[in-house]
Amino acid sequence: MTLIQVELNERSYDIEIERGALNHAGVAVASLGNVSRAVLVSDDVVDALYGEKVANAILDRGVDLDEIVVPAGEDSKSIEVANSLWERLLEIGTDRRAVVVALGGGVVGDLAGFVAATYARGIRFFQIPTTLLAQVDSSVGGKTAIDLPNGKNMVGAFHQPSGVLIDPDVLRDLPREQYVSGLGEVVKYGASLDASLFETLEANVKDVDACNPDVLEQIVAQCCRIKAQIVHEDEKEISGRRALLNYGHTFGHAIETALGYGAIPHGHGVLVGSLLAAKLAMRLGRNGDDRFKKIDSEWLARQVALYQNLRLPYRLDDLSKKFAANDPDVAPERLLHIMSTDKKSEFGKLNLILPTALGECVYAKGVSQDDVRLILEEGL
Ligand code: GLY
Repeated sequence: MTLIQVELNERSYDIEIERGALNHAGVAVASLGNVSRAVLVSDDVVDALYGEKVANAILDRGVDLDEIVVPAGEDSKSIEVANSLWERLLEIGTDRRAVVVALGGGVVGDLAGFVAATYARGIRFFQIPTTLLAQVDSSVGGKTAIDLPNGKNMVGAFHQPSGVLIDPDVLRDLPREQYVSGLGEVVKYGASLDASLFETLEANVKDVDACNPDVLEQIVAQCCRIKAQIVHEDEKEISGRRALLNYGHTFGHAIETALGYGAIPHGHGVLVGSLLAAKLAMRLGRNGDDRFKKIDSEWLARQVALYQNLRLPYRLDDLSKKFAANDPDVAPERLLHIMSTDKKSEFGKLNLILPTALGECVYAKGVSQDDVRLILEEGL
């Protein structure tokens, strides 16, 4: 078992990672103390797989339980679904000692976390993430949100969970595309923040590809350690430190948006976006920006080789063919336009996270649109 603490003074909490951890969900929830009831929020797919197991584990500890199941998929991150949850919490008499337990992937975690953040001005919530992406990223750090019709995560709140329980065994049930999406975030941590994690991935490609839970337990734990440290340093993304979690995300978000809102899994955009960001760093280095002088074609080839060995997509074309319903406009000019409306861009210049060495990155401010356009035109 691995225990990682997210240190945030009175809002500190533990991330517990262990194979078979779903069986002790009840112990984990009850140990939060003074729990009047648990409200288990899940989606229909996850509920069918693990709902009963987790519900029984909670009931076995003598904690009263209610369950809310929402439809699986991004559409559930809506004001309508959030409203139905608020109303249900009221109906069942949820008080301030209740705990909302999110059992599922990023959608369930973001939705349940947002509802917990806002109901009665905030009640506790507990995360049991069941996708790789949620285990290594979205369940840790307290970002909660719902979507607007034209704006992903546009309405939300920082609301830290009271605890996170991670069971790597559930990853074996994940559809391949969701697993690949999670690997997008895992590779991101290695390439931009932790060279030894990148080397671990290189040394264990077979086990990672085969979703070996023992190897994944170590990898998920390392990602959570990195995230816990960054959230400790910059909980509300003020100093710029937390923004470093976003390597590949500015290109990736543009790709996600251009291919159609919700059409591709988030991590796929990050995978392709990271390589484009690396190519951009390489270009800036060649043009005399010393911060990027270590990013050369060998560095890029090493990242591409890892993708190939793990059977991960790395070209925009691969994503368009696989996920886009009908001929999407992914022309460089369109992607550039989306990137320049990103929250991080200012005065027509782009601010992005770019790699400086294996396991290191910077928040590069004021990158010109011409440099970015060239990279988009060239592709991979
Ligand atoms: N996923 C990036 C963050 O939590 O800040």
